[in-house]
Amino acid sequence: MNPLYVDKLAQKLAQRKAENSFRTLSVCEAETDFCSNDYLGLAQNEALFDAVENKVRSLKINNKLGATGSRLISGNHDYFLQLETFLAKIHQSTDALLFNSGYSANLAVLSTLPQKGDTIIYDELSHACIKDGARLSFADRFTFKHNDIEDLERKISKATGNIYVAIESVYSMDGDFAPLTAIAQLCHQHGACLVVDEAHSTGVWGVSGNGLVCNLGLETLVPIRIHTYGKAMGCHGACVISGPVIKQYLINFARSFIYTTAMPLHNLVAIALAYQFLQENPDLQSCITHKIALFKALTKSIADKKVDSSSAIQAIIIPGNSAVKAIANKIKSQGFDVRPILSPTVKAGAERLRICLHTYNTDQEIHNLANLLVTSLA
Ligand SMILES: Cc1ncc(COP(=O)(O)O)c(C=O)c1O
Repeated sequence: MNPLYVDKLAQKLAQRKAENSFRTLSVCEAETDFCSNDYLGLAQNEALFDAVENKVRSLKINNKLGATGSRLISGNHDYFLQLETFLAKIHQSTDALLFNSGYSANLAVLSTLPQKGDTIIYDELSHACIKDGARLSFADRFTFKHNDIEDLERKISKATGNIYVAIESVYSMDGDFAPLTAIAQLCHQHGACLVVDEAHSTGVWGVSGNGLVCNLGLETLVPIRIHTYGKAMGCHGACVISGPVIKQYLINFARSFIYTTAMPLHNLVAIALAYQFLQENPDLQSCITHKIALFKALTKSIADKKVDSSSAIQAIIIPGNSAVKAIANKIKSQGFDVRPILSPTVKAGAERLRICLHTYNTDQEIHNLANLLVTSLA
């Protein structure tokens, strides 16, 4: 007989199975990749891989497999400092602070900076790490309707204390852009601190992949940006771009920065060389733009089922966990790795196929996938 606590957990799992939302770990097989976040193919680029390996071997600082401690104890070294100086410069700001992941960077910003009596307002479609960060904070928190400036203004006018507004430049599940300029101007007018998570725009837009805020010239209106390295940059980790006080505050108070082992050197080198690779290969951005335009043109006839998106993330809404799983399996059986996104990851009724486009998807593969989608969904 199971102990009572196991029974309780097992009941919850059974409920997940009954709702067709039980998660399991699967291994990517040799199908054509239309699901990873490796938009520019950097994670699988052999030249970059070799360059990282050679650079790590040639560096004479901290040649250790692991960082050996947190950055405040034994994990810090010159390469961290040099990389942060480089990151601040490339993102047109004064300061940058590296984190082990985008999750921990968002958690740090939203749980640490807003204080009791302050207010966090975030887009209702924000990623889980923005929501979790806000939940850990002592500030009040509200959502505003997705990309709705008027609703945001209403929420700002009701807020108390210092106001923090959190958005994504490209939304992770819908792939649409935030109205960045309008939101940045509104926040500036009201003295609110705008936090922009650039997880899905880093690498894909801006000079050397420095993101949409820089691309739109909004650096001075956006005091905090989060760039992550596990998506188009092909490696792992994140940085918070800010001014000096925010950086110092995070170093002093952010628990997901203080109480964790620092990133290993090879990861830092991968981040630095990924930027360098983008600097040397600006054609990758025009290539992904072409793939996005091609997919959009080929799926025009099912546009009513798609979220309107001009990013590498293309969502096709197929309500119901069973329905979206069935279509995903059909497409998978034709050799395409396309994943269904189920509720509760997205709202019930908004289940979708989340199709990610990559520079390494051939035009022919995109034609074949689009044909299959159009014939299955028309
Ligand atoms: C918008 C957004 N922010 C943050 C994260 C988390 O980043 P990381 O995977 O580096 O923890 C993700 C990843 O899924 C994301 O989509």
